[in-house]
Amino acid sequence: MAQRIRKAVLPVAGLGTRFLPATKAVPKELLTVVDRPLIQYAVEECLAAGIDEFVFVTGRNKDALEDHFDVAYELEATLEKRRKHPELALTQAANLMPGNAVFTRQQRPLGLGHAVWCARHWIGNEPFAVLLPDELTLGSPNCTARLVEAHAQTGGSVVAVMEVPREHTNRYGIAAVEKEKKGLSEITGMVEKPKPADAPSTLALIGRYVLMPEIFEHLDKKETGAGGEIQLTDAMAKMIGVSPFHALRYDGQRYDCGHRLGFLEANVAVSLHRADTGAETREMLSRLLKD
Ligand code: UTP
Repeated sequence: MAQRIRKAVLPVAGLGTRFLPATKAVPKELLTVVDRPLIQYAVEECLAAGIDEFVFVTGRNKDALEDHFDVAYELEATLEKRRKHPELALTQAANLMPGNAVFTRQQRPLGLGHAVWCARHWIGNEPFAVLLPDELTLGSPNCTARLVEAHAQTGGSVVAVMEVPREHTNRYGIAAVEKEKKGLSEITGMVEKPKPADAPSTLALIGRYVLMPEIFEHLDKKETGAGGEIQLTDAMAKMIGVSPFHALRYDGQRYDCGHRLGFLEANVAVSLHRADTGAETREMLSRLLKD
């Protein structure tokens, strides 16, 4: 029987160079979509999927991330005194259970694979989730919950994929698949950032994974790949054919918030769909489009 997924790794040590100068002092993962930071969406996605233990792989200048999930004593006391109870509830909703999060540093941003490897001692010998917080996915059940369910079904690793335009394959890990059934297919190959002409398909990995702990044996070798970085995709590719490895076609919404326009789109889309901001956002957009 497949083991329950209890833990998630959130790699947040990247430099966020595509967002400079915003990310000079503020971590990319704290940029807000409407009113909450990207990292909080990822944590809430895990909690809704039944995962409540977190390993944040951070780096220099990322301390604010740790503070975001901690009790903000002065702020909470001030809000309480001013009877700002809804605001207090919003502030406290981000506090994680004591002892349920560890923050470990990836001292050098050597790549996503290396960031995940930095979590190895905290994960131990059990399957775990990985979420890239700069990819925002929305939907019910959420993307991680769907992966957890697929893992329970297959007993192996599962990654979420979506179709992308062929000219964009060099931005993503791309999976080759076969035997698709109800959105779940067997992975036959995986390659990081292939040129459009070389891509084995147009199915891109969208930053949501459930991985078997054997991944650490491959990451241990610290082999570099595309861009001179230690790539998670390369380590995952070594597991294909050894243990079950599936791709789940995600059919919810997904926004690549790692670049400016994707981030802007996420803000507009989330604002449009929210009950408290939707009508005004629609009105604002039509006014702006008329100008
Ligand atoms: P990205 O490549 O999107 O993030 O990595 P980046 O490197 O911060 O962004 P740019 O390209 O310079 O703008 C996806 C996720 O993996 C983390 C990032 O923090 C991000 O959440 N990451 C990436 C690490 O934790 N360590 C790394 O060495 C690389």
